[in-house]
Amino acid sequence: MRVNSWNGWDPLRHVLVGRADGTMVQAPEPAVQRDFPADGFPLGTYGPMPEEMTAAANEQLDAFAVQLAARGVQVSRPTPIDFSQPVSTPDWEHPTGFGCMPPRDVLITVGNEILEATMCYRSRWFEYLCYRPVLQELFEADPDMRWEAAPKPRLTDASFVPGFWNEYQTLSKAEQLARVAEHDLVLTEEEPLFDAADIARFGVDLFVQLSLVTNRKGVDWLRRHFPDHRVHEVTFTNTHPLHIDATWVPLRPGLVLHNGERPADPELVKYFEVNDWQVVEAVQPASWKHHPRLSFCSPWLAVNILNLDPRTVCVEAEEVRLAEQLDGLGMEVVPVPFRAVGPFGGGLHCATVDIWREGGLEDYFP
Ligand code: ARG
Repeated sequence: MRVNSWNGWDPLRHVLVGRADGTMVQAPEPAVQRDFPADGFPLGTYGPMPEEMTAAANEQLDAFAVQLAARGVQVSRPTPIDFSQPVSTPDWEHPTGFGCMPPRDVLITVGNEILEATMCYRSRWFEYLCYRPVLQELFEADPDMRWEAAPKPRLTDASFVPGFWNEYQTLSKAEQLARVAEHDLVLTEEEPLFDAADIARFGVDLFVQLSLVTNRKGVDWLRRHFPDHRVHEVTFTNTHPLHIDATWVPLRPGLVLHNGERPADPELVKYFEVNDWQVVEAVQPASWKHHPRLSFCSPWLAVNILNLDPRTVCVEAEEVRLAEQLDGLGMEVVPVPFRAVGPFGGGLHCATVDIWREGGLEDYFP
């Protein structure tokens, strides 16, 4: 066992796959509010995801783990804790936890280091505990592994803009986009906050999205933590920016897939183009009219794909048009049924964490 991964495309040897067990529709908190009136969870209420949905998601997660193992990829799984119990620190108490999906939000591997992100949901404060058994095992097995955790955030009311959600939902789309461009969203700059899934790894270059869960101090913390990398702060034209991996998706050196519905900062596009990267706009997701129950993700989970190597990519089985597009770009597509996992926060990329990919640190933007 080894910890080594510098980008999203090198040949995959070992991966972690999440579990849906015990996932909660969490109680409302400053960073996030869920509102699913048609499913019995109107704003203010909370409770476990319906059992049949959890079972269906687990079936697909387990099958994906088997499929990866059959291709010679080693698979590790988290150990769920009881997410229905309240979460508390000396500063606050929250009625519920959340789950251990998607692991991509919590952990990021950069080279021989696995870093636990700060997170900013109180309900996700202890989620790292689910991954500790795997991290301990890796730490034992690989004498070169660096096991790191970003400073655990206080998450007092000072970390959040009071009344943000009530106000934000009254704004027009243009007003919301102006707020996103200014990065005037729910998080204050009280302390560094970031989710690991807001980071896209391209060797020396790390692109970090400012979002509803990542603030400027979080990016600054990452910049100081990774002094040998170029850490870029990026934004996209998206009213609800949350995790970069359904927006700006590396396919292989020289090729990035972009969700054109969320236009990129022209500076970012230029940076790629002057370095001879091709930015390809993804086709519309197949699930456009599909409304998955209790899901807080958009149909753009379609582009949340997982590379097995620079030529091979796992794509959700119903995303046939995307598969055709990727085939046209010279990729071999491995279809994976994963629709039932969407309501648990993720596609194939979110639901996994790279532990070992072959290859070393390279500069793709020299
Ligand atoms: N916010 C994205 C969308 O719905 C979903 C990204 C989920 N990614 C993740 N790592 N949890 O378009």
